[in-house]
Amino acid sequence: MKTYRIADLYCCAGGAGWGYYLTGRFYPEGYDIVDRPNYPCPFNRADAIETLRRIIAGDIVVDAVHASPPCQSKCTLNKGTNKRFAFNYADYYDETKELMDATGLPGVIENPSARPDVVLCGEMFGLGVLRHRKFELVNWTTDFSYKRDHVKHRGRVRGYRHGEWHDGPYIAAYGNGGDKGTVAEMQEAMGITWTDVREELTEAIPPAYTKWVGERLAVHLDAMALEEAA
Ligand SMILES: C[S@@+](CC[C@H](N)C(=O)[O-])C[C@H]1O[C@@H](n2cnc3c(N)ncnc32)[C@H](O)[C@@H]1O
Repeated sequence: MKTYRIADLYCCAGGAGWGYYLTGRFYPEGYDIVDRPNYPCPFNRADAIETLRRIIAGDIVVDAVHASPPCQSKCTLNKGTNKRFAFNYADYYDETKELMDATGLPGVIENPSARPDVVLCGEMFGLGVLRHRKFELVNWTTDFSYKRDHVKHRGRVRGYRHGEWHDGPYIAAYGNGGDKGTVAEMQEAMGITWTDVREELTEAIPPAYTKWVGERLAVHLDAMALEEAA
């Protein structure tokens, strides 16, 4: 079977990248603005926007692009009483989307601002986190319906909310504090064994999500390859 090169932009320690690798159809290469020695595939310390410009210029050749621009300016932790902190974080979604469109390549953007073409949740894969994440499909589509495909949660996320303790089958894989998952719990709950850096785990997409997306992206790329060959 044909394999494809995918640029994994804003890769962090590669939760998303590893999911593409697990399909057996992709070789991810990571790009992050800071060194990520735990990234499990070839890695480049590079700005994602600059990397997209290089892809457009033909300087970097790939078959597809995944991008997880930092989400702190929009994520739930920076809403409500924490809203005043949100401006501290850059928002790269608009520029990333514009440049990904311009590559003409099939792409995937994972970000709170992303159009929710696909929305995945840990329970769909039997994981120990809920972690709903939106995926916008750039220059391709797949069949997804939240109503049809989302799976009912087994219970609540373990921890304190509004001063009240809740037990449940899922851990909070974000932030710090006594009620949040430990590093070992986060590794187990998300299926990420190759980093024990708390920040990298709290940022990560469970690989099961991008394995799901990647399997469908590979079908699309196969169809494109057939069309080109005809
Ligand atoms: C939300 S995390 C990505 C998580 C990753 N997809 C995963 O599943 O593990 C965002 C990453 O973007 C990186 N980053 C921030 N600004 C960047 C930039 N301009 N270019 C490349 N990476 C950047 C951060 O260092 C951080 O590792």
